[in-house]
Amino acid sequence: MNVVNTSKEFYGLCHSAPRPLALVPTMGALHEGHLSLVRHAKRECATVAVTIFVNPIQFNRATDLDQYPRNHTADANLLVKEGVDFVFIPTTDEIYPPEFATTVEVAGPAIPLEGVSRPSHFRGVTTIVTKLLVLAMPDTVYLGRKDVQQAAVLNRLVDDLKFPISVRVMPTVRETDGLAMSSRNGRLLPHERAAAPVVYRALQAAEYLFINGERTAVALEGACLSVLQAEPLVEEIEYVALVNPTTFSPLNQISKAPATLTIAVRIGKIRLIDNISLGSSSRQALP
Ligand code: PAJ
Repeated sequence: MNVVNTSKEFYGLCHSAPRPLALVPTMGALHEGHLSLVRHAKRECATVAVTIFVNPIQFNRATDLDQYPRNHTADANLLVKEGVDFVFIPTTDEIYPPEFATTVEVAGPAIPLEGVSRPSHFRGVTTIVTKLLVLAMPDTVYLGRKDVQQAAVLNRLVDDLKFPISVRVMPTVRETDGLAMSSRNGRLLPHERAAAPVVYRALQAAEYLFINGERTAVALEGACLSVLQAEPLVEEIEYVALVNPTTFSPLNQISKAPATLTIAVRIGKIRLIDNISLGSSSRQALP
């Protein structure tokens, strides 16, 4: 597996690789969620390229950026095992030299929820992903449903700029107790980690109502809220929202499935997000 650090080398590898070419953008600290994207990519494309870059401009808090786990050696070992063809691990200066002055901003689905909770976060994401897409020009980019609003924003970006790239959004990979895998889970204290599956349980409570015919946002969101509020370690509920999966505008009720039900909470110092699709044919089975 080739590991490169400069845009020029990455460009060269991407443009001489057998097609179709898959791109899996990550910030490293790789876990099974990331590896599932790589595995889907391996099945569907001739070449798989992964990027590892902790993108400073998408972090709202300096402490979150500083504490973001970084382990390039462990990451590279995992990717070798998966048969990844090459990995781009640029420095911050390589991506954002001192004179850098261009950002890419999506409105629409980037405005609500995460857009409110984390101002400028999506501008950071859309700027780095545009840079990576323009450099690599893959046939397909693989994203995780775990970050469902990010996927909607990047879909909008690719569509609006007419990049000839397909966006594949893959299911959320969970721990056996239902907690969505995340690089931040390792920073939960043991008692917080024990409480964290409440987020998925809240979503399942709403899913149970949905399966039994409930369609109103008040009831579906209310079911989530009751479960979250019963857990004392949930210190803050940032949002529980039923939204249109493409536009991310709020829904009062589900008249046309699927809808996305999405949650952001804080347990201790750690912010956790999760979501489910209600009424989609590819709904994940309840464990
Ligand atoms: P990162 O958090 O490293 O995630 C990289 C990709 O892995 C994203 O598409 C994310 O949705 C997916 N992913 C993370 N956890 C997952 C899980 N449990 N199951 C399935 N997929 C999962 O998301 C980013 O990095 C950055 O914002 C990035 C797109 C790389 C831009 O900097």
